[in-house]
Amino acid sequence: MTERFGSYQNEIYLQGYGGTTPAFTTDATRLEESAADLLEPGPFWYVAGAAGSGATARANRAAFDHWRIVPRMLTDATERDLSTTVLGTELPAPVLLAPVGVQSIVHPDGELATARAAAGLRLPMVLSTASSHSIEAVAEASGDGPRWFQLYWPNDPDVCGSILRRAKEAGYTALVVTLDTWTLGWRPADLDGAYLPFLNGDGLAVPFTDPAFRSLLEKTPEEDAPTAILRWISMVTGTDRNWSALPFLREHWDGPILLKGIQHVDDARRAVDAGMDGIIVSNHGGRQVDGAVAALDMLPEIATAVGERATVLFDSGVRTGADVLKALALGARAVLVGRPYVYGLAHGGEDGVRHVLRGLLADFDLTMGLSGHRTVTELDSTVLRRV
Ligand SMILES: Cc1cc2nc3c(=O)[nH]c(=O)nc-3n(C[C@H](O)[C@H](O)[C@H](O)COP(=O)(O)O)c2cc1C
Repeated sequence: MTERFGSYQNEIYLQGYGGTTPAFTTDATRLEESAADLLEPGPFWYVAGAAGSGATARANRAAFDHWRIVPRMLTDATERDLSTTVLGTELPAPVLLAPVGVQSIVHPDGELATARAAAGLRLPMVLSTASSHSIEAVAEASGDGPRWFQLYWPNDPDVCGSILRRAKEAGYTALVVTLDTWTLGWRPADLDGAYLPFLNGDGLAVPFTDPAFRSLLEKTPEEDAPTAILRWISMVTGTDRNWSALPFLREHWDGPILLKGIQHVDDARRAVDAGMDGIIVSNHGGRQVDGAVAALDMLPEIATAVGERATVLFDSGVRTGADVLKALALGARAVLVGRPYVYGLAHGGEDGVRHVLRGLLADFDLTMGLSGHRTVTELDSTVLRRV
């Protein structure tokens, strides 16, 4: 499948000829500024904030700057095919929508709008367990679009099994298990406003519509929300797992499984030895451990160690087409993008998400062509220079 993503540029210029400019910026590194004007401080900081001093989030961005693309000329890169296949899912370009919870805090349509925009572009959406809409409602909005499910792992096996069963039945094809958020990092921006959306009942549609979870409650979440909220929070936080728990997931999920939040090469090896199909090198966008290594800095070593045996994906700090190219050149099969599309959602619902994603794809497409590459298989570390 070949799509000319770069043509979004022509579309924008032509619309400008007719007097229309983009509804908001095409510079994904600046979306946060206008989102700050649009959103209330609580929701804004919930999205923009990071752990502690913000050092990890800054390191994520800075790491990209240490790698520079070395463009090649006269390579006949006019026609490009950016498509790839990731664990059985066909992608028109190596980009997925990272799992982001509680999207209703930035726009009432939340994950439904995101699902529609992603499906229209045929990019996989990874639905968070902390979604504001149910697994089934998001699946319906996604239609025949590709979709994966992200698990925050409840310590009640029946509830966990029930959620996985629902995801499978609703057409989510791969399972992403997030390991780095078994408790929340110290996030001063949220703490200062004492803002935690879950306590307001946001981001709880998955457990609240789950029969196994509901059967544990004396009163329904509609009758007694605080008790239900606390029951769920205590089920998914405060309890780390260990490697011996992974077989449970395999027993309850017959599709591909990826572990998200891997940053150490030994953990990557261990995941693959345990039979996982993939890993996502990620530090949760710098939201968990302050002073941590940039996710990109760990990618080459991990990709070299396990890339032959498992699918290596990457997130944390991806903002531009050049970032996508660099992550692929350093060994990622595809990247996940987080905050940018959430800011798009805040700016314009489904249209806003689409604008951000089309912008990223166009930027990637043009950067590929202008640096002399026709397909993602051509990318390896020789196309970059470390500075
Ligand atoms: C507001 C917000 C909510 C998030 N919620 C989840 C979540 O529910 N599950 C998860 O695995 N990751 C979650 N993440 C992390 C993202 O999946 C991803 O790792 C991160 O956003 C990537 O970094 P980036 O924002 O710099 O692109 C969240 C991130 C943000 C910004």
